[in-house]
Amino acid sequence: MASIATCHKPESSNPEALLGLAESLDVALTVVGPEAPLVAGAVDRFRQAGRLIIGPTAAAARLEGSKLFAKQAMQRFGVPTARYEAVEDYAAAVSALGRFSYPVVLKADGLAAGKGVLIVQDRQEAEEALRSLLSGALVGGAGSRVVIEEYLSGEEVSFIALSDGEHVLPLAPTQDHKAIFDGDKGPNTGGMGAYCDARILTPAQASEVMERVMLPVVNGMRRDGCPFSGFLYAGLMMTDAGPKVLEFNVRLGDPEAQPLMLSLDSDLAPVLMAAARGELAAVSLDWQGCPSVCVVLASEGYPGPPRTGDLISGIDEAESSGALVFHAGTKHTPEGLVSAGGRVLGVTASGPDLPSAIARTYQAVGRIRFRGMQFRRDIGQKGLRRWPAAQ
Ligand code: AMP
Ligand code: GLY
Repeated sequence: MASIATCHKPESSNPEALLGLAESLDVALTVVGPEAPLVAGAVDRFRQAGRLIIGPTAAAARLEGSKLFAKQAMQRFGVPTARYEAVEDYAAAVSALGRFSYPVVLKADGLAAGKGVLIVQDRQEAEEALRSLLSGALVGGAGSRVVIEEYLSGEEVSFIALSDGEHVLPLAPTQDHKAIFDGDKGPNTGGMGAYCDARILTPAQASEVMERVMLPVVNGMRRDGCPFSGFLYAGLMMTDAGPKVLEFNVRLGDPEAQPLMLSLDSDLAPVLMAAARGELAAVSLDWQGCPSVCVVLASEGYPGPPRTGDLISGIDEAESSGALVFHAGTKHTPEGLVSAGGRVLGVTASGPDLPSAIARTYQAVGRIRFRGMQFRRDIGQKGLRRWPAAQ
């Protein structure tokens, strides 16, 4: 961002500090990226002060902030999702386990940066995982309540829509790759890559998701007195019985946002302004029809504690081939740009079809180097069967 805009670092990310910064710069429209300030009430505070902002209030952000709130909301609104039970102590957890078959899914109720979901294969593994979640050893207080959930199989799809509290504007479907290794092996991460391609859902499937998930949630939240505005992200499992919701996020996904931004043809600024003013009814989005792919370059050790401080080379060469390289965990130092987090860069490119978007992205990835760099080599592969003619 620093190459196209002036970056300001707020003193802290609490709502008061963010509002103070927006007021000192007289910011016309604030768009909140991450979930923590939303859950902490940044939108409530900006609205009280009469400043335009995109995102849900703290009450509506509970759709991401609490897995249990999300499950209960889905039950109320009739949104399809996996069967679940919520537990707060080990004895209750063990007795609830008896009512599920394996594999079973265990989810920390609170925010855990993508690390609070465990899929376990047998009773022994489940008991160990429940102990480390409930004791706080795994994700701290976020795990003091656990949702035990039926395991769903199918293909995962990320479906994101923008809402002004009343109207719902769907974005193109995307697919994330959460596991650290190729072939969806290894532990879950925040996301190792994503692609955007209209073909991920048929038009009938996309309308089914709108009718059964997005509209019921936006209408239900409004009826419940906490209207949802901002980006609503449904993580879906496309099961034999239709789409079922795995989770909600209350923001654009990372890394889904990167290919979405490349594939979107419309200027986003007026769309966001209309959303902040409650005027989305009049807005539509243009998509180039071009798929885009983002490959995340991560540090050695990720999703565990990452190795950082390594010099990064080749970004200019990658971008001169037409890719856009998003920075996630980098830092400028006198020696040059270095890695500074688990997910370091998101290398993103589009093409007239998915195979060429994948090829262009990996060509750009090939120009970038830092010590211990790891990335998946199969981002977008699942989508290739929808492009038989182009292969
Ligand atoms: P969540 O943070 O709830 O999206 O969970 C993270 C990942 O765990 C999802 O992207 C899925 O890959 C997996 N997952 C979550 N819930 C389930 C479920 N009920 N059945 C199968 N996989 C799941
Ligand atoms: N890619 C999923 C997320 O942003 O949490």
